[in-house]
Amino acid sequence: MMDGESATELGVPRDGDPTSFITLGIETSCDETSAAVLRGETEILSNVVYSQVDLHARYGGVVPEVASRNHVVKLPYIVDEAFERAGVRVGDVSLFAATRGPGLVGPLLVGLCHAKGMAYASGLPFVGVNHLEGHLFAHRLETPDVEPPFIGLIVSGGHTLLVDVARYGEYHVVGTTVDDAAGEAIDKIGKMVGIGYPAGARIDALAKEGDPKSIPLPRPMEGSSSFDFSFSGLKTAVLYHLRKNPRERREDIAASVLASVVSVLTKKSLEAARRFHRRRLVVVGGVAANSHLRAELAAEGRRREIEVYFPALALCTDNAAMIAAAGAFRHRQLGETHPLSVSPDSSLALGS
Ligand code: KG4
Ligand code: ZN
Repeated sequence: MMDGESATELGVPRDGDPTSFITLGIETSCDETSAAVLRGETEILSNVVYSQVDLHARYGGVVPEVASRNHVVKLPYIVDEAFERAGVRVGDVSLFAATRGPGLVGPLLVGLCHAKGMAYASGLPFVGVNHLEGHLFAHRLETPDVEPPFIGLIVSGGHTLLVDVARYGEYHVVGTTVDDAAGEAIDKIGKMVGIGYPAGARIDALAKEGDPKSIPLPRPMEGSSSFDFSFSGLKTAVLYHLRKNPRERREDIAASVLASVVSVLTKKSLEAARRFHRRRLVVVGGVAANSHLRAELAAEGRRREIEVYFPALALCTDNAAMIAAAGAFRHRQLGETHPLSVSPDSSLALGS
């Protein structure tokens, strides 16, 4: 806030005191059922995440209808638990926020309807949140003092995005994947080598025992001047390699795959920071949990004098605290409230 500006001028609609402003956030865009209670804009009182992965593992990926039905069953309990752990009652809530997109439309509908129902019943405001903006707010939760401008790398199972963040709420997407997301490619390669879904954490661990130089794999679009990504060719290269070398060690495959993914992500995101004159890089999303990516980006960032930030692992993967944080910001700082007619948008773009 600038000197001389009051909270009212910035559109704080309900309560100017951040310590008594409570947001209930709900996230159901994919296969995590999550509810969180946030005080002010950055203090997490609870962040309950129920992962459905076991339910989907046998299919090798998320089955949207199975996810929707499971959200319907679990969400009321998860919301109750979020209140209980936070020591807060529904009557204490100031704002309801839920993911509106992008994501799977059925799962989105479940969380959105739940939050809108609670807002309607209590006569309180509701904000529909962009899931990608939510991922960026994981950084604000972790490090509220480290504010934009920065380059954001959102890297998850569904997205690989480079975003220039001039300030929260103002996003310029400078690069995205032209085919598979990084996490999606890792999960598909995991499936090829017989690792359960999702494969990210297991590939991360296996790679520590493997030789990253053992298999020459492509580093797609690494040398291109564009900030776009492509990971589907990497997946095909692994497929062909496995046909010729069916006994290849899984550790070596994991290490070689991550060498490629980490190198591409590192080069492009640090180059984007240089090109857009940002001294900070913020890395969020499920793949930001990857230990090899964290180590490489931290080292290269130091070398190029760019500060690199990663949220704690629990805030990297899908969770409702980040959704509550984005919703609280949009309501309190931008004065946003959405009508209860707002519907899910499976391909909602960042900045729309
Ligand atoms: O952000 P997220 O929970 O969901 C989406 O919005 O997509 O990300 C899930 C993705 C999965 O592809 C998973 O394999 C990947 O994040 N992931 C990892 C690691 N932990 C999760 N990828 C690489 N290394 C990890 N340690
Ligand atoms: Zn996500």
